[in-house]
Amino acid sequence: NKSEFGLFGLGVMGKSLCRNLANNGFKISMFNRHVDGVEEDVAKNFKADYSELSQAKAYDDISAFVNSLQQPRRIMLMVNAGKTIDYVIEDLLPYLSENDIIIDGGNSNYKKTKERNEYLKTKGIHFIGTGVSGGEEGALKGPSIMPSGDKDAYDKVAPFLETIAAKDKNGLPCCTYVGPEGSGQFIKMVHNGVEYVEMQLLAEISTILEKFGQNPDQIANTLEAWKDTANSYLLEITIDIFRKKEGNDWLVNKILDKAGNKGTGNWTTIASAELGVPSTLIASALFSRYISFYKEERIQLNKNFDKVNTSEFNVTTQEVLEAYQLARIINHYQGFKLIAEASNKFEWNLNLSEIARIWTNGCIIRSTLMEELVEIFKQTANILTDSLLIKTINNYKSAGKKVVAQCVLNDISTSALSEAIQFLNGITTAYTSANIIQAQRDYFGAHTYQRLDDPSGKSHHTNWN
Ligand code: 6PG
Repeated sequence: NKSEFGLFGLGVMGKSLCRNLANNGFKISMFNRHVDGVEEDVAKNFKADYSELSQAKAYDDISAFVNSLQQPRRIMLMVNAGKTIDYVIEDLLPYLSENDIIIDGGNSNYKKTKERNEYLKTKGIHFIGTGVSGGEEGALKGPSIMPSGDKDAYDKVAPFLETIAAKDKNGLPCCTYVGPEGSGQFIKMVHNGVEYVEMQLLAEISTILEKFGQNPDQIANTLEAWKDTANSYLLEITIDIFRKKEGNDWLVNKILDKAGNKGTGNWTTIASAELGVPSTLIASALFSRYISFYKEERIQLNKNFDKVNTSEFNVTTQEVLEAYQLARIINHYQGFKLIAEASNKFEWNLNLSEIARIWTNGCIIRSTLMEELVEIFKQTANILTDSLLIKTINNYKSAGKKVVAQCVLNDISTSALSEAIQFLNGITTAYTSANIIQAQRDYFGAHTYQRLDDPSGKSHHTNWN
């Protein structure tokens, strides 16, 4: 009468996943720690709250929890990423048996996942690091799941994860074995980077629509009309957000303009820098959040610098939509480029089309664009070589430039939109000014340069003065 699957950590996500597993008929054990006066009988009380958990077993004692599970044990951790994971692993280890499987479902750093994987291998325990996206509701109704590590171990947990995952338009689970090591955590991290940009773009768009004189309801109506061309989960929730009223005013007007973060955008930016991949939009969206955080300084400096407010803001909402779509394509290009480069460097052999596919439902960045990318990645790893997207970008580029130019002229900060245009210009320039950088490096540091007229690729040095 032992349970098939154990869930460790009953925070918001852990609870939703338990209910999802139970709703799918799995026999589960649930664990939450006991902290006097703070976390008492969490698992027991949770079980009592939901009828679907009547068969589930609730524990706050680790040994009893572990002993309640069939072997090889499958234990999914839903605890705070970071050091806590290591503490929990150490707490569990004395009770585990060879071939048991630990799944980390938090937003853990992919490098840590690799280390934990190697460490646990020495103990005979399998470790699966998995991204889980979709927030509370996703976890309950079907998240997107991005597991990585040992393929054999994955096969033993696949029936559980694939059953509780969201389903794509063909009914296939939005969960697939991603690759070795921490590749699942890596792609979840990039997912979040792309998420930051998609959120930032919608925020920037709303600033522009506000400039048109639209109130939050009108902004929501404008965005609603964009669903035909640009639908996404984030667009949908943003429409809801703009409609939400509190008393006579819109709630958005009352929210402090300081954006928080839990670190994954930071990691994505670090990973881009480490791998030498120009994920400029992710960095830009992250830094926009950081700028927002300097609220007091912004208020102070606002007084020192006059904002230009030209009466002419000569763009249409259609052009704003096109600028938005253009930036979204660049965002997805950059995000998948980062994944592709990591895959090459770490020899993960990742399947971009499959990654796009498991992101078509359940996760935060699901969208009609993502659906298109599933097909495009079957043909090419570089979406900017796809003939349809080339056509779309060529169609949207002039609107993109116009919108950004108007924002610049009106002192409106739209860094992600601007960066999309800048990046597109950079990546499509056959001859850049990097020759000057090379000359400067050679001038002061004898770092040498290669010559266009010497195809051998040999290093040259000049005595510049
Ligand atoms: C998801 C989300 C989620 C993420 C939050 C918080 O896919 O469900 O990406 O995993 O942790 O969105 O991110 P920030 O606090 O950094 O904005």
